[in-house]
Amino acid sequence: MTRKIGILGGTGPEGSGLAYRWARAGEEIVIGSRDPARAAETAAQVRARIGGSAKMEGADNVTTASQCDVVVLTVPFSGCAALLKQLKSVWKPGTVVIDTTVPLAASVGGSPTRMLGVWQGSAAEQTRELLPAGVSVAAALQNLGAELLAKDEPVDCDILVCSDDEKATQIASELAEKIPGARAINGGKLENARIVESLTALLIGINMRHKVHSAGIRFTGLPARK
Ligand SMILES: NC(=O)c1ccc[n+]([C@@H]2O[C@H](COP(=O)([O-])OP(=O)(O)OC[C@H]3O[C@@H](n4cnc5c(N)ncnc54)[C@H](OP(=O)(O)O)[C@@H]3O)[C@@H](O)[C@H]2O)c1
Repeated sequence: MTRKIGILGGTGPEGSGLAYRWARAGEEIVIGSRDPARAAETAAQVRARIGGSAKMEGADNVTTASQCDVVVLTVPFSGCAALLKQLKSVWKPGTVVIDTTVPLAASVGGSPTRMLGVWQGSAAEQTRELLPAGVSVAAALQNLGAELLAKDEPVDCDILVCSDDEKATQIASELAEKIPGARAINGGKLENARIVESLTALLIGINMRHKVHSAGIRFTGLPARK
């Protein structure tokens, strides 16, 4: 069975970069937006970049969340709670949500190198609180920048996947590794997302100090994959 991957906020650089990488790997993608025309426009642009075989369409966020098997959250943290409340009744049981969002102070006009305090502990735990039972969540991809995703070369980083759900961990890890150069690492429980999210603020500061857009994270000492 073909799965559909929906990307809420897929018109932005992070979501469209993931759409590009995953569609190139043969995945079927739905770009979600508050405005279906904007979603269709982004889908057409990404499809044109890849060529004829890309499976990609655009839809509003409600249609995207209700029709896709895997839904990736790529909207600014400041918009997440309202969007998830709007979507509360539309999810299919069994949907896996992959949360890439980072509660950067920049999402409310502050510094991109500082974090907002989130009552639940992390953006991902807030997301879980706003999803109905039967929809699972993994936090992943928060440390992989849009500028790297937009390129054609392999990325050079590990992707930490944090979740309390085995299926969500497996799907998020599989999709992370469809991005050439990325290695998925099981980062443990969803509550660990608070550590991973804050690494993004650190990486943004490192990028700024070194005048690059490519800083990423690699873990050493792990067994080689067979
Ligand atoms: N950019 C990166 O390098 C990067 C890296 C790792 C993680 N992330 C995370 O990925 C998410 C998206 O990042 P981005 O840079 O792509 O963000 P962005 O361009 O600011 O926003 C992405 C899309 O979200 C939608 N959106 C904006 N405000 C919204 C709101 N209040 N409610 C609902 N939808 C809204 C917009 O789509 P429509 O107007 O079409 O609805 C927009 O195109 C963020 O949470 C960020 O922390 C980003």
